[in-house]
Amino acid sequence: MDTVTADDLCADAARALAHADNVLVLTGAGISAESGIPTFREAQTGLWAQFSPQDLATPAAFARNPERVWGWYRWRRTLIGRGGVNPGHRALAAIEARRPISIVTQNVDGLHAAAGSTDITELHGNIWIERCTGCAAESSQPVAPADNDASLPCCPACGAMTRPAVVWFGEMLPTVALERAQELLAAANCVLVVGTSNQVYPAAALVEQAVQGPATVIEINPEETAVSRSVDMHIAATASRALPGILAHWPHDAAALARR
Ligand code: APR
Repeated sequence: MDTVTADDLCADAARALAHADNVLVLTGAGISAESGIPTFREAQTGLWAQFSPQDLATPAAFARNPERVWGWYRWRRTLIGRGGVNPGHRALAAIEARRPISIVTQNVDGLHAAAGSTDITELHGNIWIERCTGCAAESSQPVAPADNDASLPCCPACGAMTRPAVVWFGEMLPTVALERAQELLAAANCVLVVGTSNQVYPAAALVEQAVQGPATVIEINPEETAVSRSVDMHIAATASRALPGILAHWPHDAAALARR
């Protein structure tokens, strides 16, 4: 019996995505891994293998030592600013140019927008946005390597210290983003899950709901995750290989489909 290659699956995935009425794309740290940005749970290289989330990604850690937390987020900004978008981000933006897709991401790196995607819901906030700890005003910073020697950032409105506008452990996700994600999931008949370990809730619950629902679910991840045996297609490849692969197999009749 012929083995089904990742390329075969990319062709099947391209047809499913092109023919779907509504497409939801759920992304995690894996899609940015090939930009040189560590994921969170990879053994040894993952951020949580190197650093303690309790010391860097909680409100208590920030209250205890804002310099340390800002040092870490500036280091991550530098990695993202240097790494930039990769073929995976670009391929999703190119697919959006062919048919509407909605991206719901756990990533705070802002790279989907930098690649040209437009319909993006950020569940865990954005590392380039700063929120004032006093008046809650938000201001955004340019995507660029950070100046680690700069003094701690202050609110342009009231002068109080700002914090990264990301969701820390123990904090609630932004209600608007979560509600939009639920709406998109309910409407989607094709769900593409890229580069997430499906271990962090409530984002992982979205994937579980998709698998339990009627939608076609496609997972792109070089490793197996908790849902890999329940999805319709598991493409065991990296995002920077599989997403351009899907684009390369985009059905020629898709334009007619898109005009439907
Ligand atoms: N392409 C596709 N997937 C990849 C790649 C790649 N190049 N490299 C790694 N992966 C996969 C890994 O196999 C893993 O399953 O991406 C997944 C990354 O998992 P995590 O590190 O757990 O990241 P994520 O699922 O996004 O974490 C969720 O946890 O710490 C919090 O707030 C943080 O948003 C984050 C959330």
